[in-house]
Parts: sequence; structure tokens; C-alpha cells
Amino acid sequence: MITGLQLSLPICILAAVLFWTNSAGVFIPNLTEACYRCLCHVSTRCLTSHECTAGYCGPFNISRVYWIDAGKVTLPEDDSNRNHAWEDCARNYYCSKRIIEGYLEKFGKDCNGDGVTNCFDYMMINGNGGYGCTAPLNRSENGRRWLARYEECRHSLE
Ligand SMILES: *[C@@H]1O[C@H](CO)[C@@H](O)[C@H](O)[C@H]1NC(C)=O
Ligand SMILES: *[C@@H]1O[C@H](CO)[C@@H](O)[C@H](O)[C@H]1NC(C)=O
Ligand SMILES: *[C@@H]1O[C@H](CO)[C@@H](O)[C@H](O)[C@H]1NC(C)=O
Repeated sequence: MITGLQLSLPICILAAVLFWTNSAGVFIPNLTEACYRCLCHVSTRCLTSHECTAGYCGPFNISRVYWIDAGKVTLPEDDSNRNHAWEDCARNYYCSKRIIEGYLEKFGKDCNGDGVTNCFDYMMINGNGGYGCTAPLNRSENGRRWLARYEECRHSLE
């Protein structure tokens, strides 16, 4: 006979596998590989050869402040106190995805208030910064460029 207790353990494990898939155990809805690609496209057209310009590095064009807020993610075996650790992670597509993930674990929310938390909200967070993500992006030149690029990859999210 199967008791409630015997059932609950596999269910907990299943729930953990389904919902707590990232390193910090925070569920970030709709942060799919296609969404990472789209965020990357919006930032630099996902220019993987991009090193650093004006303090922004890698295909997601990440700043040091963003990296700090994201929890100082580094390449495996690297030390976050090393001077160039943040740039080296930001310039690597896989490592920089973990920076984005760390940032969204902290700031992910429904920025445009449409009732869903999806890639568009994550783009707003990257564009406006996590603390003021609700500002419409169409108010600035830069924001309008981001919106136009988002349109180019939006279809890949469905
Ligand atoms: C990275 O962001 C900075 C600041 O917004 C911008 O000037 C620069 O053009 C961006 N780099 C790329 C490769 O898009
Ligand atoms: C994820 O996105 C889909 C499609 O936009 C949406 O239906 C769903 O509610 C979103 N999940 C959350 C938790 O907002
Ligand atoms: C900007 O977007 C908001 C809502 O997304 C809209 O109400 C407003 O008319 C837009 N403004 C411009 C200048 O396009």
C-alpha cells in the first residue's frame, strides 16, 4: 500500500525538476533558450565576437554593475575578485547567459503589467535596469532601437 508520505517524496522531486531548474533555485518563467537568443539579439544582434566597448562586454553587452547585481558569476574555476573575471565571463556566451540568469532571478517580474512574465519583460529589465523596469522603452532612441530588434526575434519565441 502506498501512503501519503511515500507519494510526496517523488512529487517533491518532480516539482524540483520542473520548476527549480536553475542554480539558485529560483524559477524564472519563460526564460527559454529562444529568449536568451532574443535578448542577445536585442543587445548586439548577438555579436559573439564583441569584446568590450565603453565598459560593456560580450554578446549581451553587459556592464560591470549589471554583473555585480547578477551575483558576480564567473567562468568555472575563476575568482570573482580577479580584475578581469567579469569581462571574461561576459564575453563568453554560455557564461554571460548565467549573468543574465542571475540578474533575472533578482529582478524578474511583469514590467509592462500585461499579466504575464515573459521575454518582453526581461528585455525591459535589461533595457531599463532592474530597479526601474516599468518605464516604456519607446521614450528613448536607444529603447526604440531595442523594441525594433525585439520585433525581429519575437516570432522565434512562440
Ligand atoms: C553596448 O552598449 C553601449 C551603451 O548603451 C552602446 O554604446 C554600444 O553601442 C553597445 N555595443 C554594441 C556592440 O551594441
Ligand atoms: C509565459 O509566457 C506565456 C506566453 O506569453 C504566458 O501565457 C504565461 O502566462 C507566461 N508565464 C508566466 C508565469 O507569466
Ligand atoms: C509608447 O508605448 C506606450 C505603451 O506601450 C503607448 O501608450 C505610447 O503611445 C507609446 N508612445 C510613443 C511615443 O510611441
